[in-house]
Amino acid sequence: MARVAYVNGRYLAHHQAAVHIEDRGYQFGDGVYEVVMVLNGQFVDYDGHIKRLYNSLKSIQIDIPITEPALRVVMTRMIRLNHLQHGSIYLQITRGVARRDHKFPAASWPAMVMTAKHLASPPMPGQKGVAAITLADERWTRRDIKTIQLLPNCLAKQRAAEAGAFEAILVMPDGSVSEGSSSNVWIVNTAGELVTRTANENILNGITRQSVQKIAQEHQLKMVERNFDVAEMLAAQEVFITSATSVVTAVTQIDDRKIADGKIGRISAALREDYLRYATGDIA
Ligand code: PDD
Repeated sequence: MARVAYVNGRYLAHHQAAVHIEDRGYQFGDGVYEVVMVLNGQFVDYDGHIKRLYNSLKSIQIDIPITEPALRVVMTRMIRLNHLQHGSIYLQITRGVARRDHKFPAASWPAMVMTAKHLASPPMPGQKGVAAITLADERWTRRDIKTIQLLPNCLAKQRAAEAGAFEAILVMPDGSVSEGSSSNVWIVNTAGELVTRTANENILNGITRQSVQKIAQEHQLKMVERNFDVAEMLAAQEVFITSATSVVTAVTQIDDRKIADGKIGRISAALREDYLRYATGDIA
């Protein structure tokens, strides 16, 4: 099916969509983005993603080029024009086009593009666990901003892929786990507590993470926000990652070590199932 992209107010055939070579996103990574999952033709966690987008824009002083209601109209139209049943919408806003100069241009109009991605099938509850590797976190110190500057994340994901793994789990100089190259990391520790890192400038505060926290609270699971190191993660009963696209995915092997018995844990499986029920609108 023909894909349709959005570029600065126009809906174009995907293969013809383009931006200027002096777009500051292209030259400097001067922009931010969001990935919003679509299930059954509906956005998942839409409000959370848009709120974070506006916060990211504010953090890097890009004037928001569109009102929230207008943005919703465009995004919904992207679902419709792409006949998107299950998949995601990628939305990127950069500082726009200007002659190359590091400092902000005196006058530029932010550039906004969107693309749609189809999923062959929606994520299913009982998916297989994945492998991960650990790597040093080499990113900048404002990881709470969803910037399009993803080179360290890309290098880490590539290293994971070359090792036959799905995700790279990033480790800070103090030995604590920050997050995955494109996901948040959780453990179920030996005491059966759900542990995930506190959201501050060291990690991206995942929208999926926040929804899973609400679901875990409803189930009265014991949940703690604190740092954990690689040794605690390897000794955990369960490890899983969350993101808009991976939903809740169990990590059953890290580096050369199996997590517990190497099978998907009970809590990871239950949270995945519940999150998917919530995401497809089956539960509020
Ligand atoms: N990435 N941490 C990082 C570094 C991420 O890139 C992402 C998401 C997350 C999870 O955030 P959320 O639950 O809001 O998707 C955490 C998206 C999916 C991506 O880059 O494709």
